[in-house]
Formats: sequence, C-alpha cells, structure tokens
Amino acid sequence: MTRKSRATPAGTMAPKARKPAGGPGQALDDRLASGEAVVAVIGLGYVGLPLACEFARSGLRVLGIDVDASKVADITAGRSHVQDVADSDLRPLIEGGRLRAGTDVSVLAEADAVVICVPTPLRKTRDPDISYIVAAVDAIAGHLHRGMLIVLESTTYPGTTEEVVLPRLEATGLRVGRDFFLAFSPERVDPGNARFKTRNTPKIVGGVTPRCIRAAKALYARAVDQIVPVSSTRAAEMVKLLENTFRSVNIGLVNEVALMCDRLGLNVWEVIDAAGTKPFGFMPFYPGPGLGGHCIPIDPHYLSWKLRTLNYQARFIELASEINGSMPQYVVGKVVDALNDQRKSVRGARVLILGVAYKRDVGDVRESPALDVIKLLADRGAEVRYNDPYAASIAVDGGTIYRSVPLDRKALLASDLVLIITDHSAYDYRFIVKHSRSVLDTRNATRGLRGEGRERIRRL
Ligand SMILES: NC(=O)c1ccc[n+]([C@@H]2O[C@H](COP(=O)([O-])OP(=O)(O)OC[C@H]3O[C@@H](n4cnc5c(N)ncnc54)[C@H](O)[C@@H]3O)[C@@H](O)[C@H]2O)c1
Repeated sequence: MTRKSRATPAGTMAPKARKPAGGPGQALDDRLASGEAVVAVIGLGYVGLPLACEFARSGLRVLGIDVDASKVADITAGRSHVQDVADSDLRPLIEGGRLRAGTDVSVLAEADAVVICVPTPLRKTRDPDISYIVAAVDAIAGHLHRGMLIVLESTTYPGTTEEVVLPRLEATGLRVGRDFFLAFSPERVDPGNARFKTRNTPKIVGGVTPRCIRAAKALYARAVDQIVPVSSTRAAEMVKLLENTFRSVNIGLVNEVALMCDRLGLNVWEVIDAAGTKPFGFMPFYPGPGLGGHCIPIDPHYLSWKLRTLNYQARFIELASEINGSMPQYVVGKVVDALNDQRKSVRGARVLILGVAYKRDVGDVRESPALDVIKLLADRGAEVRYNDPYAASIAVDGGTIYRSVPLDRKALLASDLVLIITDHSAYDYRFIVKHSRSVLDTRNATRGLRGEGRERIRRL
C-alpha cells in the first residue's frame, strides 16, 4: 500500500520554526533552491563521499557523518579514501567550509535533508543485514524536525523504506508528508567509470507521498542532471535490484557459456565477440573468475530473501549465484591443468596473481574472487604472491595478510604460473607474456598480442 492518501495539501500546517506560506515542504524547497539548505550525508564511503562532494559543489553546506573516525580525520585533512574523489577536488570543499566531516550525529539537528549511504551487507546465512540502516535511522529520529527530508540510498529489499525506516521516524510523533519527507533513491555509482559520475547518471526517486517525491526532486536537482521519479519507494528499491540482478544473471549465463565452450573445445571470447556484431537484440557480457564488489554478488540476495518471505523462490538469482560462485574453483582447475603441462603439482608451485581488485582499474577488493582463488591455491600448498597497483595489501580468509610484490622481469621469471585475475589497464601485457613461463588469462586481457610467448597463454 502506498501512502498517497497522507499527502497533505500545501498550507495545511503551521510550522513552529519557519513560517513560509506553503508549510515545511515549501520552506525546504525554498532553502534548497536558494542554496541555504544544509544537507547531511550519513556514511562517507564509495557512495556517500562522492555524493557529499557533489552537493557541496552545488553550493549547499554539507555535513558528512561517519562512525569511522579515521575516515573522518582523512576527509577533514583533505585526503580522499575513495578513488573517484581526487584530493584536489575534496580539499577546496573542506577548506572553503562547504563540506565538514564528523562522527557526531547531533549536527543532524541543523540539517534540512539527510541522505543515508551506509553499507547493506549479507549475514553469514546470506540474509540481509540492515542493522546499519537501522542505526542511521535511529540517529536521525533523535534529531528529526519539521521540514526535514530523509532519503535512503543504500541498496535494500523492496519495502525497507516504508516497513523499517518510516515507523521509526513516525514514532517521534511527526507525520510523513506533512511534517517530514521520506524517499528512496538508489545509488548507481560505477567506481572507476570515467564517463558516468554522480552528476550525469540519471537518478531514480520514489517518495512515500507526492510531497516527499517533490522534496527529494528539489534536493537532487542540485547535484544530478536528470531525475526519474517512480510511483513509490518500493518501485525505486526494486529498480536498483533489477539493475544488479540483470548483471548478475547475465554474467552467470556467460560464465556458464564459458564452461560449455570449454567442454566443446571452443574459444568463448571468439564466440562472444562474433555474437556482439549483431546490431540488435544482443548485449555482450564477459566471463571471468567470479563476481566481486559490494553490489552484484550481494544485492540480488536482498531480493531473493524478500521473495522467500512471500513463499516465492527467485530461481534465476540462485542459479546465477551458484554458477558465479563456482568460478574461482573452476579457475583453480585451470591452474592445475596449466601446471600439469609443466609436469608440476600445485603444492610448491609459485603462482603470481596479477590484479586482486574485483574489477579493472579500481582498488576495491571486497568480495573479490581473487581472495577465493588465493585461498584455494594456498590451501593446496601453492606459494602465492600477487601484484596489484591499486591494492598494496590484502587479508585473505579474514587473516593471512599478503602484500603486493613489484611486477618486474625477475618476479615473472621466478613464477611457474602468472594468473591474470583483474585486467588493469596499467599492465603491459606484452611485457608480462614475454617474460612469463606460463600465463593463465581469466579476462582475455592478452587478446590481440602477437609474437613471442603467445603459445604460453591459456585462457578461461
Ligand atoms: N560501492 C558501490 O559501487 C555501490 C554502488 C551502488 C550502491 N551501493 C550501495 O550503497 C551503500 C553504501 O555502499 P558503499 O560502497 O558506499 O559502502 P562503504 O562501506 O564504502 O561506506 C559506508 C560507510 O558508512 C559508514 N557507516 C556505517 N554505519 C554508519 C552509521 N551508523 N553512521 C554513520 N556512518 C556509518 C562506514 O563507516 C562507511 O564509511 C550500500 O547499500 C551499497 O550496496 C554501493
């Protein structure tokens, strides 16, 4: 059920603090339009920090709140921990007083709008962990005031905004659509994407009431070029899950096609490239060592969990997850084959992994398949080292720390196998292949290489 019936016509309430003719909603619109509004962003990670910067650049005063004091200290010193935000972009916003970071939630009392960008991981049982959302909302409830707009951006299951966030805010006695405004607007950030950033990526917005959507549109109009309203918060929540499920399922499909091509003795990359010449009705996805990052491996499970509560099994999601989750094991099988060709066992073999980030040209190793591959190889007794220009050290299986080694001729020659897990553009693949004894390329990064060493390359 939507709450449209609660929409309050402009002018039906008498706010205590500010008294413009149109009520608290109008006051908020006016303050956003004039640039007087103060926006708080809760959670200054990959999503929250770029958004906070975009609001600050638009002329609003931004209060960034994070529970991690070291992140706050770095941001305050003008040092960005997010690759997509350059220090040179952050520093002027801090020095000019447009963006202030802190751990104290009491600043929410001065905020006209609050955007929640906290993590939404899975529990060990693969059920949603919305405890970060709940903590953020409880902090807001303590400072909720008339005319305030609250927007949830964290990816979550359909219903979270109205079933979890709304009751906590209304427990204060204030009413949505009349006293405060509540919306869901999924983040679509694509880390490392040089073309599409916060400003030029269209923003989906769903409000609890029409007045809520109007307030959220007024907020995002400051920072985003195109806003796409949808009819409800649930629809907005579902849009994000469709987008990420679409990727997960298509990657799962193409990973299975890779497994099938292997059995058929076919080169899956050739097949995809040829299919990709079809100018309609086909969109190429590429196989790889498995899914990673904070979104694609996790978000679809938010949807399947919700559907389970409604006695429905989300079959595509489960199957894609099973296939994608099996890819690290498949890669290890290929490592065994490649070493076998050299009459070597995995135990004692020196394997150099290139790239541990979950995708090209980023340093994020969350859920990266490289971590699984390293663990599987180490468990079998391989001597594993890695290089990644973006990740100086990693913790595998919650404990063992590995540090990136220099990528030079000596390191390549000293390895029985070089395993390309992440196809960073900074790598000189010609050099790598030339000086390696054997290369297993899980990303087709060495495509197009001619000359010395080509015969030493195996592909997924
Ligand atoms: N990273 C992405 O590419 C991406 C893309 C789209 C959507 N999302 C979604 O956005 C949300 C945030 O993801 P992220 O990658 O930015 O996570 P992140 O871990 O990089 O950042 C979240 C931040 O929130 C902070 N935090 C946690 N609890 C808090 C609290 N109660 N109060 C204040 N701060 C708190 C953490 O310390 C952390 O700095 C998730 O729901 C994610 O699924 C992420």
